[in-house]
Amino acid sequence: MEFVVQPGGVVKGTVRVPGDKSISHRAIMLGAIAEGVTDISGFLEGEDALSTLQAFRAMGVDIEGPSEGRVRVHGVGLHGLKAPAAALDMGNSGTSMRLLAGLLAGQPFRTTLIGDASLTKRPMERVARPLRLMGAEVETTQPGGTPPMTVGGSRLKGIHYELPMASAQVKSCVLLAGLYADGETSVTEPAPTRDHTERMLRGFGYAVEQRGPATVAVQGGGRLQGTRIEVPADISSATFFMIAAAIAPGSDLTLTHVGLNPTRIGVINILKLMGADLTLSDEREVGGEPVADIRVRYAPLHGIEIPLDQVPLAIDEFPALFIAAACADGTTVLRGAEELRVKESDRIQVMADGLQTLGIRAEPTPDGIVIEGGVLGGGAIESHHDHRIAMSFAIAGLRATAPITIHGCEVVATSFPNFTMLAAEAGLRLTVR
Ligand code: S3P
Repeated sequence: MEFVVQPGGVVKGTVRVPGDKSISHRAIMLGAIAEGVTDISGFLEGEDALSTLQAFRAMGVDIEGPSEGRVRVHGVGLHGLKAPAAALDMGNSGTSMRLLAGLLAGQPFRTTLIGDASLTKRPMERVARPLRLMGAEVETTQPGGTPPMTVGGSRLKGIHYELPMASAQVKSCVLLAGLYADGETSVTEPAPTRDHTERMLRGFGYAVEQRGPATVAVQGGGRLQGTRIEVPADISSATFFMIAAAIAPGSDLTLTHVGLNPTRIGVINILKLMGADLTLSDEREVGGEPVADIRVRYAPLHGIEIPLDQVPLAIDEFPALFIAAACADGTTVLRGAEELRVKESDRIQVMADGLQTLGIRAEPTPDGIVIEGGVLGGGAIESHHDHRIAMSFAIAGLRATAPITIHGCEVVATSFPNFTMLAAEAGLRLTVR
């Protein structure tokens, strides 16, 4: 599937993007191992979250839906999962694989987790290592420590783990394994990362102790009680529209019901530093997560040095932020973001290549990129099986001087199944072929 984006356009109106991916995954996982029924609304019906849903069906969990974002999970309790008949296919989804590795490490059966071409290249030793310290028997595929990976069949003991990188997936993997471990499991992170697992565990009535700013702890062997979860709109999906309005002269767009968890709002802070005109309204709390409407009106952007402390808080938003940087006056410098190299693609290299194709000076560095704002031309871009690369170059068309063709766009359905429809409604000149 290709996107063809004609140059120019203005974005206007009101958009509600689909449900948060991180929260949708966790709602299925925790609902499945809870006691009783969990009712989810606003669930993201994207391929990644559906991979998680299918995995739990394959382990004997009765799940109704999804239908218009509604899912009902009949929890089987902490010890009610059954061995799946075959390997569990996580598709493109690193979150599914890494969180499930933790949740399945302490099950009485062994499970093999597989994925698509992109996921099969991604590092899994970062979760295998702490799980082995807990006593788990974990196999990854050598020499790279990549999928397929096989876990389960071991008794786990609680550990204290110092995360070597700021990763919510690794933190969550260890905490989920901790539910099945003897005694206490605690994790210290080098910088704050998304805390949806901790918030949602508490929502299911499971105690999570916060010790100082950087450490969380759980005791093994508790119980989760089924609950109601309202999933807010995904700030990571909203980002494409925020940046579309921020770069296209004359734009005025409102995004509704966007999740504004403080561990996810780096994109808002960074855009404001670049001069974007962004206002929040109707700030409220929904099911333990802060939510608001975001209005973005076009204003000229300028290049900045991105503050290091914002990097983990905006980690999924950098491909789109690089488009903002390409449209800004002056130079934008990103450092401390080596994690971008191990996402669905190497997002530093792939974005630098794509921006250069469009005539922008973009210099990759080992842990970031230097981008000079300029005039975007047209050209052909490869998604490299990465949804966020495809959507980022789609919004670049708003400021391009010639058409942009993006190859490999079927992957957009992993996180944002109705992207093309919402984008066209808002004013992007995008066609699919
Ligand atoms: C996620 C954590 C982040 C993020 C990913 C979703 C999660 O990954 O990039 O899209 O739901 O926990 P890392 O843990 O690798 O930073």
